[in-house]
Amino acid sequence: MQRDSRISEAVIRRLPKYYRYLMDMEKNGVQRISSRELSNRMGLTASQIRQDFNCFGGFGQQGYGYHVSDLCAEIRRILGLDKQCNVIIIGAGNLGQALANYVGFEREGFSIKGMFDVNPRLIGLAIRGIQIYDIDILEEFIVDNDIKMGVICTPKDHAQKVTDRMVKSGIKSIWNFAPIDAEVPEDVALENVHLSESLYTLSYKMNDI
Ligand code: NAI
Repeated sequence: MQRDSRISEAVIRRLPKYYRYLMDMEKNGVQRISSRELSNRMGLTASQIRQDFNCFGGFGQQGYGYHVSDLCAEIRRILGLDKQCNVIIIGAGNLGQALANYVGFEREGFSIKGMFDVNPRLIGLAIRGIQIYDIDILEEFIVDNDIKMGVICTPKDHAQKVTDRMVKSGIKSIWNFAPIDAEVPEDVALENVHLSESLYTLSYKMNDI
């Protein structure tokens, strides 16, 4: 399928959800699904689903619906999950270690090649076999290991500086968990994950009911 370069952010944000549902169905042996049934399961309208998939040329056949494993493979490819991506984690504290301990990202092709910290008590240790290095060697490690993605788990005051160093060394995507809106050039992809914003939204909803 040909990808339209003007795919809206909203469609891109729905793709991982499609992928999650379809992966589950595939695991449970579902072979095909109609857009109506998919819409019932996902809480989206059938026309929304058809419109979304049409952005990529459409995947269904009239009267047949969608072939689950084909659709799953196609969305995996669109999301870039069919390729390996070499990743580093900056900040090997609580969150950095928790992410390194999670094996699920690796299953989808995100291979954590190393972690970096400033704390001499952490440098030299390994988490699930993933070595913690001195931040001083960050730039050469990125180049030598073809690192494509950096995950920021430092305190917020260090996050922008670490971002700038990674970008200068050629990193093209940043997954930022520090509570700042990191700034990157246009050709670098950035996802800020602000867990506390989600928590505070939940708190509002809880108290507003
Ligand atoms: P932490 O204090 O356990 O770990 C931070 C690590 O970053 C430390 O090991 C520290 O030595 C290292 N560090 C400091 N400056 C550095 C630099 N310039 N280069 C490399 N490493 C450096 O903190 P924690 O809990 O892991 O949080 C990390 C970030 O994630 C913070 O910005 C925090 O606000 C955010 N966060 C954490 C959550 C959590 O569940 N732990 C939840 C939401 C956000």
